[in-house]
This record gives sequence, C-alpha cells and structure tokens, in this order.
Amino acid sequence: MTDVRQTPGIVSTLFRSEQGGHEQVVLCQDRASGLKAVIAIHSTALGPALGGTRFHAYSSDEAAVEDALNLARGMSYKNALAGLDLGGGKAVIIGDPDMDKSEELLLAYGRFVASLGGRYVTACDVGTYVADMDVVSRTAPQWTTGRSPENGGAGDSSVLTAWGVFQGMRASAQAKWGDPTLRGRRVGVAGVGKVGHHLVEHLLKDGAEVVITDVRGEAVDRIISRHPGVTAVSDADVLVRTPLDVYAPCALGGALNDDSVPALTASIVCGAANNQLAHPGVEKDLADRGILYAPDYVVNAGGVIQVADELHGFDFDRARAKATKIFDTTLAIFERAAADGIPPAAAADRLAEQRMAERTPAESWLRP
Ligand SMILES: NC(=O)c1ccc[n+]([C@@H]2O[C@H](COP(=O)([O-])OP(=O)(O)OC[C@H]3O[C@@H](n4cnc5c(N)ncnc54)[C@H](O)[C@@H]3O)[C@@H](O)[C@H]2O)c1
Repeated sequence: MTDVRQTPGIVSTLFRSEQGGHEQVVLCQDRASGLKAVIAIHSTALGPALGGTRFHAYSSDEAAVEDALNLARGMSYKNALAGLDLGGGKAVIIGDPDMDKSEELLLAYGRFVASLGGRYVTACDVGTYVADMDVVSRTAPQWTTGRSPENGGAGDSSVLTAWGVFQGMRASAQAKWGDPTLRGRRVGVAGVGKVGHHLVEHLLKDGAEVVITDVRGEAVDRIISRHPGVTAVSDADVLVRTPLDVYAPCALGGALNDDSVPALTASIVCGAANNQLAHPGVEKDLADRGILYAPDYVVNAGGVIQVADELHGFDFDRARAKATKIFDTTLAIFERAAADGIPPAAAADRLAEQRMAERTPAESWLRP
C-alpha cells in the first residue's frame, strides 16, 4: 500500500513550485473500495473546474499528485481558450484500471466529486470511459459529464474534437496561404483512431489529398477500404519526411521533437494529440523553420466543448457551433503571436491568462 506521508513534496508543489497557483487539491481515500484519488482544482476564475478523471497505475503517490496538478493547469488554459465559462481541474485515480476499477470504487469517487459542491466537474480521460462516468454520475449526478446519451450525456467526444482540429487547420491555411480551404493540399495524419479517422473524412470532403499512418493495421485498412485514394506510409518517421503541406499528429504526445522538427516537410502542424511539443523550445524551432504550429490544446478543445455542453442538457448543434469557433480562436492566436513576436504556443498561453485575469464571460470572448 502506498503512503501519502511518503509525498513530502505535495505542499511545496502546490504552493511554491512552477506548477503552483492551484486553488485546491483534495486527497481522497475510501478504504472499503480501495479508492485513492487526487482531485486538483487549478482555477475557478471562469467557473466550475472541468476536467477528466485519469485512472492510472502511478509509480508513486507523488507522481500522481504532480500529474493531477499539471493536467488541471492545462485544463484551465484549454477551457479559457475554448470560450467556456469553466475553470480547470483534473482528477487522477491511483491504480490499474484493469485490476482495480469497480462499481463500488467509482461510486465512492463520485461521492468525493459531489462533496466539492460543484467546484469540480468530472469527465473521461485515459483509463476511464463513458460507462464509468455513467456509474460516477449516480453519486455525483450534477457534476459528471462524458456520460452515455441514454444517461443524458454526449457520448463519444472524438466527433467534435476532429471537427475542432479541422477548424484549426482551416485557420492555419488562412494564416499561411490567405485561403481557409485545404483543397489541393497534401495532409499527413499520424494516428487514425477515434479522432484521426473523422479528421480524414473532413479533409477528403474539403478536397485535400491525404496520407496516413497508424501502428494498427486495422485502423489503416478501415480508411483505405472506404477511400482508396488515401495513401498509407509505414510509420510516423516516414510521414514527417513525406512531402506534405500539413502534418496532423493525432496519436500520442511528443510528436514534435528534436528528430521530427528538422525533418518536417510540412509548413503547417495542426493535430489532435495532446502535448505535441516534446520539450520547451520546440515551438521556437518550428517558428525558426517557418512552420506554423497551431497549439494542440486550442485546436483539440472540441471534446471538452462537447462534454461541457452536457451541463446545459446536451445539444449537438449548439456544441458544434461552439467548436466551429476554434477557427476564430486559432486565427486570434496567430495574430497575437505576430503582434508580440512570439511563437503561437506562447501567444495562446498569454491569451488564456488574459481571459482568466479579466474573467471575461464566454459571450464576449474574442469580440473586439
Ligand atoms: N478523443 C478525444 O475527444 C480527444 C480530445 C482531445 C485530445 N485527444 C488526443 O488526440 C489523440 C488521439 O485521440 P483518440 O481518441 O483518437 O485516440 P485513439 O486511441 O482512438 O487513436 C490514436 C491512434 O493512434 C495510433 N497510434 C499510436 N501510436 C502511434 C504511432 N507511434 N504512430 C502512428 N499511430 C499511432 C493508435 O493505433 C490509434 O489508432 C490523443 O493524443 C488524445 O489525447 C483526443
């Protein structure tokens, strides 16, 4: 059994580290079900803190706290730039989801979420699924999103995530080539899973030429069988070296690194994957090469926009209209980057911090 007393770094991490500035961190334990969880609330400046629940076997309790703090902070920025009146938070449940997840544990977790009285709203993340949120919602009915449509939820969030990435890509094309269409452009999509395959459909409909790769042969076959004009290459290393106009990382994080950036042929990078920049400084390497980078957390916000809409009784058209605004937000970021002489990733952070500091309500966000 892990011991919270082995994590002397929690207080300094919360109050003094670079990741600090969080409002509240709750350590939760339910002995009967074996639940051990961390709920981190970074900011409620714009509203209740919304962010998913990660279920993961961490190497230590401290690693779990650190992950919760980092992820919660990221959600504040994402929700701010998604134009949501929601703050940022995230929860992690410590354990192996295949071994330790149980109905009793998820119900206990929901009771902790409910105990925060709306300061934190949960959703799915790595290791938790729509069916799990249906269980959590039994004990935290007002504060659980990511539920199934039968249970008042929005279901699979990848639909609007892909739509938002497509809008971000259109804005990137507008900024780079003065025209938002991808018609006639060659787009490489690395990872054609839930989000990537929807993105391919949007691109083909817009008249783009698409090149794909995926480590799972069946994911590639699903696309090629429907769209024989799509080309597949063996892996992401080959894809970045293939002549492309746009590169869309839609698999795992760290796709933009010291190996891939010098090799990239594309002049735009815009994809769904979280944490695409392998380390600080990569955004500058991209800018130095003249590659326009659409910040990941801005363009992949369609999913959080979708689940946030559940709080008002899910309406697909309303959520899609909000996700369409990712086009305007992405353009505003490029404009700010040009005006301030900084990479788009830094401009995105500045705009998010500005909105949180001003507490600008969603309806006036991005209006002059
Ligand atoms: N699903 C959402 O709503 C959502 C929202 C925001 C961000 N994201 C991010 O977008 C990315 C994709 O999410 P998803 O829901 O489509 O996941 P997914 O698991 O359905 O798809 C990922 C695909 O990438 C493939 N893949 C893994 N490693 C690869 C590699 N090295 N090279 C090529 N392909 C590889 C997998 O086989 C899979 O088909 C993730 O980084 C996720 O965090 C997803």
